[in-house]
Amino acid sequence: MPDLPKRTLGRTGLEVTALGYGTMELRGGPRGRQISEEEAGRILNAVLDGGINFIDTSIDYGIAEERIGNHISHRRDEYYLASKCGCLAGWNESDGRPAGSRGGGPHVFTRENVIAGVEQSLRRLKTDHLDLVQVHASPSKQELEDGGVVEAMLDLKAQGKVRFIGMSSTGSNLRDHIAMGVFDEFQIPYSCLQRGHEDAIAEAAAAGAGVVVRGGAARGAPSDDERNRERGAEAVGIWEKADLDGLLGGMSRMEFVVRFTATHPGASTNIVGTLNPVHLAENIEAVSHGPLPPDLYAAAKHRLKAAGSQPE
Ligand SMILES: NC(=O)c1ccc[n+]([C@@H]2O[C@H](COP(=O)([O-])OP(=O)(O)OC[C@H]3O[C@@H](n4cnc5c(N)ncnc54)[C@H](OP(=O)(O)O)[C@@H]3O)[C@@H](O)[C@H]2O)c1
Repeated sequence: MPDLPKRTLGRTGLEVTALGYGTMELRGGPRGRQISEEEAGRILNAVLDGGINFIDTSIDYGIAEERIGNHISHRRDEYYLASKCGCLAGWNESDGRPAGSRGGGPHVFTRENVIAGVEQSLRRLKTDHLDLVQVHASPSKQELEDGGVVEAMLDLKAQGKVRFIGMSSTGSNLRDHIAMGVFDEFQIPYSCLQRGHEDAIAEAAAAGAGVVVRGGAARGAPSDDERNRERGAEAVGIWEKADLDGLLGGMSRMEFVVRFTATHPGASTNIVGTLNPVHLAENIEAVSHGPLPPDLYAAAKHRLKAAGSQPE
């Protein structure tokens, strides 16, 4: 396996691989893809064997936390582990998803629920600490303050149950979250086709936070890629309009997509999810090639801007 480059996750000081692994695909249940426990164990161990050292999960991702706990907790010193909080502790997908839920399930931004959720994650993940806990679903500053969420996270940190605190942030709340100055990390959606958060990523990094990019594969895929469930309507057709195929020069589309994200100087890691060991190996190989060459990156941005994908 090639060596993955590492980057510092902002002020946490953690040296994370530029490719991380997102475990939403391991959720199973009514909303997820069906794989056996043996396959789940195989892909999680392949992630670590491939040198990836940053794993992202959530209470909301069905049985993903249990799968991590069952299959790789014996290798806990090989990976940094990030989960979420604010997701309703004790909730289970078979309970149904209330209308208007943000993220994977219901969220309750209170001190009690944050603490109960982290305790539950530690049991499921079979570990005594999370390296990072991120508030899920980007609540407003007011919601955070009303529920005492940040104080609860800092208390968990003081107890050694979490090492650093972060926020899964989007849209207009992101700048408020950066300005709060308390978060060590932000998880932010970003890809070549959806560059709306490009400047905010740079601002978060300049403020000293680490940035974990999500959606760098699903949101970056060309329009004929049916796997792209998350991409907003504004991204459809951008790949073709920008004629990114004309810039590939022998690279696969997915290599371009993941390296484009990795070229953002503010991005610490990109948590791509996959259940396919061949895709995992391709992603590792792609990111090991490093950032895109500066002239190619500039040409891609120029074409993308003309096609309608640009920072907001
Ligand atoms: N904070 C939040 O609110 C939030 C929301 C969503 C997700 N997340 C996190 O972000 C992670 C990423 O999630 P995402 O939904 O944005 O998706 P993603 O990881 O960007 O993309 C996943 C999809 O890309 C495909 N894929 C990966 N590598 C590929 C390759 N080399 N060739 C072709 N297809 C490839 C996978 O299919 P195969 O399995 O077939 O490879 C899968 O369908 C999640 O796992 C989760 O940890 C966070």
